[in-house]
Amino acid sequence: MTTELSPIDRAKFVAARRSCDYVESGMRVGLGTGSTAAWMVRCLGERVQAEGLDIIGVPTSSRTADLARQLGIRVASLDEVKWLDVTIDGADEFDSNLNLIKGGGGAALQEKIVATASDRMVVIADAAKEVRALGAFPLPVETVPFGWQTTQALIEETLVNMDVMGRESTLRMNDDVPFITDEGNYVLDLHLNRIGNPRQLSLVLNQIPGVVENGLFIDICDVVIVGHSDGAVELR
Ligand code: 5RP
Repeated sequence: MTTELSPIDRAKFVAARRSCDYVESGMRVGLGTGSTAAWMVRCLGERVQAEGLDIIGVPTSSRTADLARQLGIRVASLDEVKWLDVTIDGADEFDSNLNLIKGGGGAALQEKIVATASDRMVVIADAAKEVRALGAFPLPVETVPFGWQTTQALIEETLVNMDVMGRESTLRMNDDVPFITDEGNYVLDLHLNRIGNPRQLSLVLNQIPGVVENGLFIDICDVVIVGHSDGAVELR
């Protein structure tokens, strides 16, 4: 089946397959969200069926939970396991410091909580996600629905004093209605083009009332497995 994949999907598959080497029986594993993470969940599901790999998966979204259960992976909540050996997840962008933008799939809040509760975060991404400076991909900011337009205005005002190249934001939509996260929140996508100081921006955004979390992952990722159609390279 994988021989029919496009080069980009093959690269995602190659990175996902390599990431499964980080998983051994007895581990508690954070299961990321997105198309690359879905390949990783499928690879782990194959190992559960074929070798009796004995793991507990903690999914970062309802989509991933459904997939993991279908494939016979034992699933638990973060509060049931409390701490994880490893989390494997995709990313929308990564830089040479292994800082990330995540949340393109709308799951950044759970993804950040789960990754932070893990001994190690392994990111799997195709090579096109590598950037010199974060920010070309719109930065997702999860926001409570109450007063979201006021929160949006505050965010845009705050961005005036930040080292970014744009400050427009858009409410993420799904068909004609606002996209709703698993936590019942909205997502504002910030079109910043280039983020000069991701650490500072992350701290400042999270101080704005109404903001629940943003998609910048600073000093959380330990390894990025960069997939190419003909192999994978690991960045640490
Ligand atoms: C979901 C995410 C995903 O990991 C990110 O959007 C990458 O997705 P894909 O692997 O489909 O390119 O952060 O919230």
